[in-house]
Parts: sequence; structure tokens; C-alpha cells
Amino acid sequence: MIADRRFDFARDLQLKGDLAAAADLLLQATELAPGFASAWFTLGEIREQLGARDEAIAAFRKARDADPEDRHGASLRLMLLGAEPLSDMPTAYVRALFDQYAPRFETALVDDLGYRGPALLFKAVLSARAAIRKPAFFKRAIDLGCGTGLAATAFAKEVDHFIGIDLSPRMIERARATGLYAQLEVADMLQGLRDKPDTSADLILAADAMVYVSTLARLLREAARVLAPGGLIAFTTETHDGDGVILGEGLRYAHGAACVRAAVAEAGLALSRLDVLSARNEDNTPVPGLVVVATKP
Ligand SMILES: C[S@@+](CC[C@H](N)C(=O)[O-])C[C@H]1O[C@@H](n2cnc3c(N)ncnc32)[C@H](O)[C@@H]1O
Repeated sequence: MIADRRFDFARDLQLKGDLAAAADLLLQATELAPGFASAWFTLGEIREQLGARDEAIAAFRKARDADPEDRHGASLRLMLLGAEPLSDMPTAYVRALFDQYAPRFETALVDDLGYRGPALLFKAVLSARAAIRKPAFFKRAIDLGCGTGLAATAFAKEVDHFIGIDLSPRMIERARATGLYAQLEVADMLQGLRDKPDTSADLILAADAMVYVSTLARLLREAARVLAPGGLIAFTTETHDGDGVILGEGLRYAHGAACVRAAVAEAGLALSRLDVLSARNEDNTPVPGLVVVATKP
């Protein structure tokens, strides 16, 4: 209780810009309650704002120790600070983020950030099919990180049976309300794919979902197993000029084009399209992105 009060007061001080006083109070809160993950995490943020990198790292480590599921995403802050190597996003962090975001997701993304991921995927899939003179109609599709269902909305007329997979129960609730999915699963997308039989899908989509996946190769290998011969996987990524994967300031991974190509090849898929296109804006500027379509031979 006493630690809670100090935490609340520290948040007020943080908002008012008195960072040093806020840090003092948070330290007191963590002395009273050493397992208080939110207090450690906020202390880490404030120390970072104060330019105290090493102390920030220590606080973020304490936050993660106090909450091994890492709902606050302290491990991501540690990666950004260069204190730890790049690794997967904590599942509990992604779930909490999108559960919180779900009620305002579509307004925030579509209206404020000009989100166009599903429309870009749709165009890319139509072009990939036109190039081999095949109709863009798919019997069974899987929507990875389906969110509220925007990708299924874009592909509704071209798909018979949609399965949606998402970590966030609140996002899944909204996807269910669209009535577009025959099946919805609250699951990690890699695990969801692992549960599917071989050659059981004709199309796999991931619109603005690979930005939460550090290692594409693992997911693409599983997708290759689940796709029927001739089936497609289409996804968007954020990208950067270098090679490899980086974690951006916005806590989303960005994949270099060369590592995307390598992951596609490693999974035994054939690259059908890789277009440099942006799926959303930030500060009214397009975020560099890729739209990728790969085919199971
Ligand atoms: C930015 S939203 C995009 C949603 C939707 N595809 C769209 O185009 O509007 C990303 C979604 O991916 C989900 N997600 C992130 N990582 C995931 C994972 N490892 N497994 C399943 N879903 C994940 C999030 O919960 C969120 O709903």
C-alpha cells in the first residue's frame, strides 16, 4: 500500500517533469516492495530519460526478474539499450499491448497512421497470381496475427474458409464480430501453425504481424510445411537499409531485404514478389517496409 502510493505519486511527478524526485520515490517504493515490477520498469524509463544508462539497465533487469513473463517488455528496453542480444518478443508483453489497444486499434491504425497493410497484401497476391495466370481464389487461408480482422476483410471475396490466429483475446473478440473467420485461435502464431496438418492451407497472410517476430526463418519453415503445393504466404515487414534484423525505437523489428530473401529461401519457398512499400506512417512519414509474396513449389 505504502509502496503503491509512492508509485502513484512518482508517476504524477514524472508527468510534471520532475524526473529526479520521481526516481527517488520509485527507489523508495522498490525498497519497500522489491518485487514491484511496474516500479522498477518506470524507474528504468526515468533513468534512461535522465541519461543514466547503466542504472536504467539495472532497473529494467530488476523489472524482468520481478515479472518473468515480462508484461512491461523490459527485455525489449534492454535490447534497445544494447545490454542484451536481440531475441523474441515476450508473449505477455504483446498480449497486454494489444488487449489494451483493441478498443481503439482500427481508429488509431487506419485513421491516424494511414495503415494500408491488408490492401498492399491484396494487390501483391493478385499480381503474383496474375503472373502465373491463376485465379486469386483460395479455399483455405490462415491469417497470422489477425488482430481485428482487417486482412480477412480485404480478402473476404477471395477466400472460402479463414482461420485467424492471434495472441490477444481482445483482438480475437473483435475478429469474431466480423463474422469472417470460420475458426479463431488465441495462440502464438508459430504454435498455431505447428498445430496445423501438412498441406492444409492455400494462403497464409501476416499483415503487420512479422514486426513482432525476430526470426522469420522458423515461422516461414512452418508455413512452408502447412501450405499446399502452389500455395502462397504473403506478409508485410518493416525494413532498414542494413542487413539482418534490428529492433526499432518503436519496439518493432525491422528486417533487412537480404535477410528476408534468405529466410524465404531457407524455408524452401520461392520468392514471387518483394516490393519496397510502406504499410503505415509515423509522424506523417511512411515507415520503410516490404511486401513479400512467396510460393510453395
Ligand atoms: C499491428 S496488429 C495487425 C493486425 C492485423 N493483421 C491487421 O492487419 O490489422 C499485430 C497483431 O499481431 C498479433 N501478434 C503479435 N505477435 C504475435 C504472435 N507471436 N502470435 C500471434 N499473434 C501475434 C498482435 O496481438 C496484433 O493483434
